[in-house]
Amino acid sequence: MAQLASLKTSALATAPATAAPAPEDAAPLAGRTGYVAVDLELPAALRSAPSAPSAAPAPARPRPAVVRPPGVAEARQALPCCGMEQELVDAVSRNDVVVVCGATGSGKSTQLPQFLYEAGLTATGLRIAVTQPRRVAAVTTCERVAHELGAPDPKTTPDALVGYRTRYDAGGVGPSTRLLFETDGVLLNECKRDLLLRDYAAVILDEAHERSLNTDVLLGLLSRAVPLRRAHYDEATAAGDADALPPLKLVVMSATLRVDDFLDNAALWGAGPRPELVSVEARQHPVTTHFAKVTELDDYAGAALAKTRAIHDKLPDGAVLVFFTGKREIDELWTPCGGRASTSCPSTRRCPSRTSARPSRSRRRVAERSSRRRTSRRRR
Ligand SMILES: Nc1ncnc2c1ncn2[C@@H]1O[C@H](COP(=O)(O)OP(=O)(O)OP(=O)(O)O)[C@@H](O)[C@H]1O
Ligand SMILES: [Mg+2]
Repeated sequence: MAQLASLKTSALATAPATAAPAPEDAAPLAGRTGYVAVDLELPAALRSAPSAPSAAPAPARPRPAVVRPPGVAEARQALPCCGMEQELVDAVSRNDVVVVCGATGSGKSTQLPQFLYEAGLTATGLRIAVTQPRRVAAVTTCERVAHELGAPDPKTTPDALVGYRTRYDAGGVGPSTRLLFETDGVLLNECKRDLLLRDYAAVILDEAHERSLNTDVLLGLLSRAVPLRRAHYDEATAAGDADALPPLKLVVMSATLRVDDFLDNAALWGAGPRPELVSVEARQHPVTTHFAKVTELDDYAGAALAKTRAIHDKLPDGAVLVFFTGKREIDELWTPCGGRASTSCPSTRRCPSRTSARPSRSRRRVAERSSRRRTSRRRR
């Protein structure tokens, strides 16, 4: 706490002078170019961290045994990330900071925590933290990963292998928890308690492109904690301590991160090594883009409805997803489409928007329903 009390934030050299977020600014920072650099007045014992720490890998640890439920192994095989498991694990073992960029649905959030767990990163009793910007994502990803690992349900098991922690609730968290999904605000609070995150072997910062104030400050703090943990590890092993606290690994994940801003950021990484970038390119389904010949500027909801009906009429069976920016537009489309079911739109379902204005219980129900649908579609 004392460490954070003396925290000062400043815009990076690369950021325009106006880009530094005001402390009370809770709005997303997407679109801004700078990251939050953190100057810390550290206790004397921690100030001796070298600016370019060594990156000697920690010794290999025993791999935990994982028994996956039937069908999970096959489903994972189809994910692009799983084809790169070795490359991802190697990158994390060689570097203290790794940036993973991959297309949406490639398996970043669900697979990378499992790879690191199976690689033995938590064998010394430490945890891997996976941060999500939103509570719903933290809970549903946690449940999915617990399922894939054949681990107990975090909602009903008090001390589970995989747990979650958000501002208002927690599930499955206990001494045996090795994978902990949490919102970035919760991990930020953990940094107040212990800047070096001594209970953690790795932190996976997911959806880094969303650039909330929490994520940016967290990144600033972690960029300081990583070299300090490395310095402590190097010092302890040089002194012959076989049980030295391993270095902290930081993985920053995103589907759309502007990687150059991040990788070449001297204010974040100083004279230390540049983070390694691993790109997961493939998409699971081929995508082709067709543009309307004329852009309807006024009644675009009506134009979307007409196009949806035309697709249903002309193309083979399937589903159409229509995205709108606001609830009013969704309601406008829903009334003519779902309210009066027609042969051209035989079955219509309104997917509530992912706005934070919705009550959290309702958002959670939506995420659970969509998870169940995805699972059953896979089985078919
Ligand atoms: N709760 C769930 N139930 C069933 N399947 C799921 C669940 N969560 C994810 N999946 C499936 O696992 C696969 C990988 O999803 P994951 O969320 O790991 O991808 P991602 O790369 O993180 O995508 P994004 O960039 O959108 O966050 C997807 O095909 C998805 O359909
Ligand atoms: Mg994800």
